[in-house]
Amino acid sequence: MLPLRNISLFISLLCHASLLSSLFAKELELGYYSDTCPDAESIVREVMRRAMVREPRSVASVMRLQFHDCFVNGCDGSVLMDETETMLGEKEALSNINSLRSFEVIDEIKEALEENCPGVVSCADIIIMASRDAVALSGGPYWNVKLGREDSLYASQDDSNDIMPSPRANATMLIDLFSRFNLTITDLVALSGSHSIGEARCFSIMFRLYNQSGSGRPDPNMDSKFRNKLDSLCPRGGDENVTGGMDSTPVKFDNQYFKDLVQLRGFLNSDQTLFSDNIRTRKLVKKFSTDQEAFFKAFIKGMVKMGDLQSGRKGEIRRNCRVANNQREDDFLIRVF
Ligand code: HEM
Ligand SMILES: *[C@@H]1O[C@H](CO)[C@@H](O)[C@H](O)[C@H]1NC(C)=O
Ligand SMILES: *[C@@H]1O[C@H](CO)[C@@H](O)[C@H](O)[C@H]1NC(C)=O
Ligand SMILES: *[C@@H]1O[C@H](CO)[C@@H](O)[C@H](O)[C@H]1NC(C)=O
Ligand SMILES: *[C@@H]1O[C@H](CO)[C@@H](O)[C@H](O)[C@H]1NC(C)=O
Repeated sequence: MLPLRNISLFISLLCHASLLSSLFAKELELGYYSDTCPDAESIVREVMRRAMVREPRSVASVMRLQFHDCFVNGCDGSVLMDETETMLGEKEALSNINSLRSFEVIDEIKEALEENCPGVVSCADIIIMASRDAVALSGGPYWNVKLGREDSLYASQDDSNDIMPSPRANATMLIDLFSRFNLTITDLVALSGSHSIGEARCFSIMFRLYNQSGSGRPDPNMDSKFRNKLDSLCPRGGDENVTGGMDSTPVKFDNQYFKDLVQLRGFLNSDQTLFSDNIRTRKLVKKFSTDQEAFFKAFIKGMVKMGDLQSGRKGEIRRNCRVANNQREDDFLIRVF
């Protein structure tokens, strides 16, 4: 009787595609590593602290990885994988190439964790812990993170190209995109506040300075003094790899980003549009510009929701964040034989 019941349960599971896909979704928990790697969170924080001393921008660069990882088939460390002969990496996707950075900080964290508790902590969880620490180390809020994610077996450059938004995006496009992940307008505006830290390239704003929407003119939603500043940072035909801070206090996590947007001093089009092109996002930008606590609270909520995204696919704990474990075994066999 019992085996039969199990079989029918199994069949009914198979019939529910949604259940099937969630078979591999992991239940995330606070303190997931408290028995298996009790020092995990303090190790991550210490490496992040050292990275920040070496290069203040690096913590922002690491924090950006959470967005680019979680939006592409869930938070599964896929963004960290190097290209192989048979797999294109997400690192070379449109939004990432010549732009995503500080992968070596993740490597350093992984090495420290492998020394302390080998094979236990996933690269996907490292991104989540490190992003949280990036914000706290920059003067922003601190929150507890749920852990227990697994790393993907592969990356998907095509999915990254399809999903990740362009800096040209307007508020409507961003609202639509975020809603696909069940992220609300409040989540969108609060999470965009991550641009309170870090830098962007001239490449990302050239169109806005000289040819907004093919008009041959700059974006009108720019304070004129600020535009002059950007024009000299990013002259027409100049080096598109030059970078500038995305708000006026780019190593401090605060609500200055929103104050700047209200004054038409947003760096990216995708930033300024939140104030200039949509009533609902504008209301939130105004609120966060005068109420830093409300921003911090909404930001935490958004980061946790984004961190909960999972693909439901089978995963593993990678030994090296850049390569799937079986790929390493293949490489090893090729070397040995
Ligand atoms: C709302 C849609 C978003 C768009 C269109 C967008 C776009 C961009 C662009 C174009 C850059 C600069 C890239 C370059 O020029 O090299 C950037 C940087 C950055 N983004 Fe976003 N982003 C968005 C949302 C987010 C979210 C949700 C987060 C994190 C939670 C995030 C975190 C960052 C950080 C920290 C940087 C600076 C990185 C560094 O200094 O290396 N962004 N983003
Ligand atoms: C920007 O830097 C990348 C390497 O990081 C290089 O391949 C590219 O050619 C540079 N682009 C420009 C316009 O200088
Ligand atoms: C936003 O961009 C989309 C795609 O380019 C465009 O169709 C739409 O008209 C824009 N919306 C607004 C309000 O500018
Ligand atoms: C969004 O929510 C709906 C309804 O709860 C759910 O079916 C769907 O899987 C969610 N989508 C994502 C990407 O989490
Ligand atoms: C501006 O963009 C439009 C449309 O993309 C293009 O046709 C035009 O040549 C551009 N103008 C300049 C000055 O680059």
